[in-house]
Amino acid sequence: MSKFRFKEDFVWGVATSSYQIEGAAHEDGRGESIWDTFCRVPGKVVKGESGDVACDHYHRFEEDLDLMAELGVNAYRFSIAWPRVQPDGRGAFNEKGIAFYERLVDGLLKRGIQPFATLYHWDLPQALQAEQNGWESRDTAYRFADYARKIGAVLGDRVASIATHNEPWCTAWLGNATGYFAPGNADLKKAAHVAHHLLLSHGLAVQALRADGVKAPLGIVLNQSPAHGATDAPEDLAAASLEYAKFVRWYMDPIFKGEYPDEALQWYGANGPQEVIREGDFDIIGTPLDFLGINYYTRIFASACGEKRPPDVHGFTDMDWEIYPEGLTELLTKLNAEYELPPIFITENGCASKDVLENGRVQDTERIRFYDLHLAALSEAAQKGVDVAGYFAWSLLDNFEWASGYDKRFGMVYVDYETQRRTLKDSAHWYSEVIAEHAGAEASR
Ligand code: FCB
Repeated sequence: MSKFRFKEDFVWGVATSSYQIEGAAHEDGRGESIWDTFCRVPGKVVKGESGDVACDHYHRFEEDLDLMAELGVNAYRFSIAWPRVQPDGRGAFNEKGIAFYERLVDGLLKRGIQPFATLYHWDLPQALQAEQNGWESRDTAYRFADYARKIGAVLGDRVASIATHNEPWCTAWLGNATGYFAPGNADLKKAAHVAHHLLLSHGLAVQALRADGVKAPLGIVLNQSPAHGATDAPEDLAAASLEYAKFVRWYMDPIFKGEYPDEALQWYGANGPQEVIREGDFDIIGTPLDFLGINYYTRIFASACGEKRPPDVHGFTDMDWEIYPEGLTELLTKLNAEYELPPIFITENGCASKDVLENGRVQDTERIRFYDLHLAALSEAAQKGVDVAGYFAWSLLDNFEWASGYDKRFGMVYVDYETQRRTLKDSAHWYSEVIAEHAGAEASR
């Protein structure tokens, strides 16, 4: 009997993203992305690494599909590299790039695995960055809708869902306010403009796909966390509320309520998005969705006087992110009370650990504990009335962890980057047992 209680057709998946696994960065007509450029800037990525080769998934995807079949997952969340499909981000499409995703999707369907596609997981065509400062420009939102349309026409009848963006907060904030991610800008006002154009592009893409009659359910993927004050002092609680407004509500409120949260607008002041908001934008951004994807990793721990470390309850991951599973139940029940939500998928959840391959085995007991705690927390949210439709573990494979390079391992499958050999970690075996048990419990209902 499964200890996790989810609905009958619950989706059990694993997730990846294009730049983190594909490699083949200069093959078959793929254009440059802002991450190709960013990785070449000295000091931006640990050890100067890049996604040039990554897991070589572009050449080894059949093997990776077989791994998924072995795991027994019934869904796979992947992203499409815009510059592989449309090298300059406008104009001509690249048939070879499109053909790759067709092979991938057909390979999934052949194995009975539902394809969950994401259109944008951070690899913007470099040409759009060079020509018009990428997402700072309103025009990029329209270019994105054109690209979405093409994917809808080619894959819209074969995929199980299409998400427009993955974690727009990361694109806007880490890419443009702190400069920690590509394109590496550190300018608050730019970040606010980028965030608005990302939201606009999301709405435009959903409208375009709907107008074209695409049947796949449409949504967006947001990274979210509950925010707690380091103490109960009013200053700390106010800091937590502001962080939540900047991180969660900044995306949820426009999509589900048609406005930015006042609290965060006030904090942005003259650096806010006001100059780029046009009449009718919120109607576009608020186009109804078929699902919402949430990526959950940790909570926000806020203090009015600089950084404070949370107490050590469940430990910390190799990213030094606090393990805080109860935050997932709290977040989902809070969202459910505050918004009219479509069905929810946890589209990413996982942890980095210092895995070692010894005698053909990786004993990643910490990762098993992490997944177990979070699935229990998710199951609790489902019992409390949240419409939870599925769960995607991050990640299928160890991969290129952005600014952290290959040092941080998030996979259920260990990748030896010298040989590209894949080895199922203990967590992979555990996950397939959980999935099988759940299927068994369903069958005996
Ligand atoms: C998320 C990203 C994903 C991966 C995980 C660890 O923010 O969406 O690509 O890097 O974090």
